[in-house]
Amino acid sequence: MAAKRTRLELTWIGKDDRPRLEPRILLEDPKLSYHARKRVSDVDLFENLLIHGDNLLALKALEQDFAGMVKCIYIDPPFNTGQAFEHYDDGVEHSLWLDLMSRRVEILSRLLREDGAIFIHLDQEEVHYLKVILDEIMGRKQFLGQIAYERSGVSGIGQGGAFVVNTHEYILAYCKDRAKFAAVDLLGEGELDSKAMKRYNRVLLSPGERIEHARFTAPSTGEPVIIYKHTHPALRTISLRRFDERLQEIEQEYAACFDNIFRLTSIQAENTFQNRILSYCSQGVFSADYLSSRGRKGGEIVTNYYIDGQAAVWLKDTAMLQEGKVVRSSKLSDFWPHSAIPKANLANEGNVDFRRGKKPEFLLRRILQMVTREGDIVLDSFAGSGTTGAVAHKMRRRWIMIELGDHCKSHVVPRLRSVIDGVDTAGISSVSDWKGGGGFRYLRLADSLLDRDKWGNWIVSKEYKPEMLAEAMCKLEGFRYAPDPDVFWIHGHSTETDLIYVTTQNLSHEQLLFISEQVGDEHTLLICCSAFRANPDAFANLTLKKIPQAVLHRCEWGRDDYSLNVNSLPGSEPEADQTDEGSPEDTPAADTTTDDVTSRPARRRGRPRRQSSTMQELPLFANYDQGGDA
Ligand SMILES: C[S@@+](CC[C@H](N)C(=O)[O-])C[C@H]1O[C@@H](n2cnc3c(N)ncnc32)[C@H](O)[C@@H]1O
Repeated sequence: MAAKRTRLELTWIGKDDRPRLEPRILLEDPKLSYHARKRVSDVDLFENLLIHGDNLLALKALEQDFAGMVKCIYIDPPFNTGQAFEHYDDGVEHSLWLDLMSRRVEILSRLLREDGAIFIHLDQEEVHYLKVILDEIMGRKQFLGQIAYERSGVSGIGQGGAFVVNTHEYILAYCKDRAKFAAVDLLGEGELDSKAMKRYNRVLLSPGERIEHARFTAPSTGEPVIIYKHTHPALRTISLRRFDERLQEIEQEYAACFDNIFRLTSIQAENTFQNRILSYCSQGVFSADYLSSRGRKGGEIVTNYYIDGQAAVWLKDTAMLQEGKVVRSSKLSDFWPHSAIPKANLANEGNVDFRRGKKPEFLLRRILQMVTREGDIVLDSFAGSGTTGAVAHKMRRRWIMIELGDHCKSHVVPRLRSVIDGVDTAGISSVSDWKGGGGFRYLRLADSLLDRDKWGNWIVSKEYKPEMLAEAMCKLEGFRYAPDPDVFWIHGHSTETDLIYVTTQNLSHEQLLFISEQVGDEHTLLICCSAFRANPDAFANLTLKKIPQAVLHRCEWGRDDYSLNVNSLPGSEPEADQTDEGSPEDTPAADTTTDDVTSRPARRRGRPRRQSSTMQELPLFANYDQGGDA
């Protein structure tokens, strides 16, 4: 029977067939990891991750540790334009592309922090379709906006034949939860015109000494507002005489005094809070410290100045110093023109050749400025040449990048190494005052935990050493892998009192009794072993599971290719087939929720579960020494 759809959504063949992804472990390749030899600053970030492999499996691998932790996701997937690119394949059939993208977005959304945001860069081919899918996955209310990014001018090469010349790409922005999301900085840069300059011509050279003058409680926050009177302040005015003639000199003066330039403004009658402060301030210089309750500085203690009965507005709040020049900062719009995102030197950015795919560092800087602060985690699961990581690194954000192609090694690694060494001077290096430092770990996806032996039985694959098996089982069972160096039977925990032990042994009643006594009444222990010779109900604090039987139906084993380059499309079976329940083998009743790490069924404390009597007895390893311990 066809699935009953009750809401507005886009459907396609195979939409309801969710892949049961194996949560793989990640293995480090220390030869490709890279760390600066010495600290360059106190805030150097070393915990960055570059993962080589398919992003669907890699995102699944990250889910347990990073669910709800990523502040900003930027992805720039293949646009599905049907054109051949040098380093990756584009042009997957539309419904397959949508299917592959929606699976990825589902996991990406689970990785996002409650106050985080995701940006998806597309062109006109799929943007409208993905918008509908994003509304469904992220929620229509979480849509922040669609940015039109001017990729090229009308006169660019290769524009012939178009209906109207296509010069734009689009960035769809969604937050995880609008109630918790707050943008960090929504100001863009532009020329500071002479009219604006002329309004800001006063300088507070020194605030002098400040003495408490009055205080009251702010009604909105319940926090104190403290008003100070300043004695012996030093003020001056920038001369604007013969403005045009002296423009260069005046600009230099503005840059020199930038932090202390202000203009005065009258407070509107409706602003009762500011007027109450002003009522304590007569002629002279006053300041007030209070907790800001909203806006850009919401939650921060701010200091505002009041001079001769008016409020001071600082130039630095609407402008910035860029390479010694004062530039205007105004609220960003959803049109990001060519002129605002320098890309003249794009080909050389990162010193890697990645034609047509590489995005300008200033584009990523703008996105990260909008929603992140230093130390926040930024993720890009379509890394390409590594722009997102390079920019995040220079802006002192933590980053995670995933890239399927070999350019992960040939492009991203050298690019990030030169960022860390401080020798990458292109892109945003100078505006970020980047000097180098930090590092990253290079990881790859482990092979599938299970493999078929020559008789077609599932066995633990050869790559898995005991500690890898322990880590993989922890992941599958929803435990955090943290082996205790002193207690052989602790490999991880799901709570403080719920522990896991993974062993390749066939455990006897005596061995289990010994472990059970050690575990005691305060803890419960899940034991994953190859076999046991005991009554599992005999130990109140132990749950026994056999590997691989216990995990056989958990997920799809041995599948490595979930890439956007899949060769075959799903067949167009009649709709009814899609909703058939299928055989119990295909859809085991247990563990259909493994896609969601947070939904591990709670284990009963104390009483072990019974093994299913229908489980096949399968060998654990083809090549394993059954006595070896994890
Ligand atoms: C448009 S490029 C990204 C360019 C990047 N923003 C930059 O500035 O360099 C898209 C990238 O996604 C990668 N990709 C495609 N399918 C992938 C998958 N399944 N897993 C990981 N990466 C994938 C491609 O190899 C390609 O490098």
